[in-house]
Amino acid sequence: MIYPIVVFGSETLRKPSAALTPEYPELKKLIEDMFLTLAEAEGVGLAAPQIGKNIRLFIVDCTPWGDEEEVCRDYKRAFINPEIYAVSEETDLFNEGCLSLPGLHEDVRRPVAIRMRYLDENFEEHDEEFDGLRARVIQHEYDHLEGKVFTDRLSPLRRQLLKSKLLNFAKGKYRAAYKTK
Ligand code: NI
Repeated sequence: MIYPIVVFGSETLRKPSAALTPEYPELKKLIEDMFLTLAEAEGVGLAAPQIGKNIRLFIVDCTPWGDEEEVCRDYKRAFINPEIYAVSEETDLFNEGCLSLPGLHEDVRRPVAIRMRYLDENFEEHDEEFDGLRARVIQHEYDHLEGKVFTDRLSPLRRQLLKSKLLNFAKGKYRAAYKTK
């Protein structure tokens, strides 16, 4: 099943998400459907709040970046109850987009490396360091679980300049090549 993607302006994107338990019904199916939804929208990451579920789950599919970074080749993972507990001092800028803000792209500054604890789809624990493009997409998706979107990380001036564009999302004035709601 392909889910419609929740667009900026919805409360779902602003609510912090709740931890997942192994009892969560049909989790494997949900994760499968999230990968289908992400592929259909041609994105690299999708967080559960973006399909209307405020649970601490996101997926990453870095395969479109496989030519740029070897480690991204065939890199498809699900992350449950993640906790970023360390970040590098070094930061860089990267032009980000978001399926929940169709058509908007802005340079966002973030740490270049992170350490994160998380569970995979089998509820196995991991503690891993990420850098490069994976660190970038993981931090973006992690923000969604906290009720944040990438425009929150822009300067107040930049956000002011984008104000009418952001309001247009809430009014339904945007174009997307995938199903939205
Ligand atoms: Ni996003």
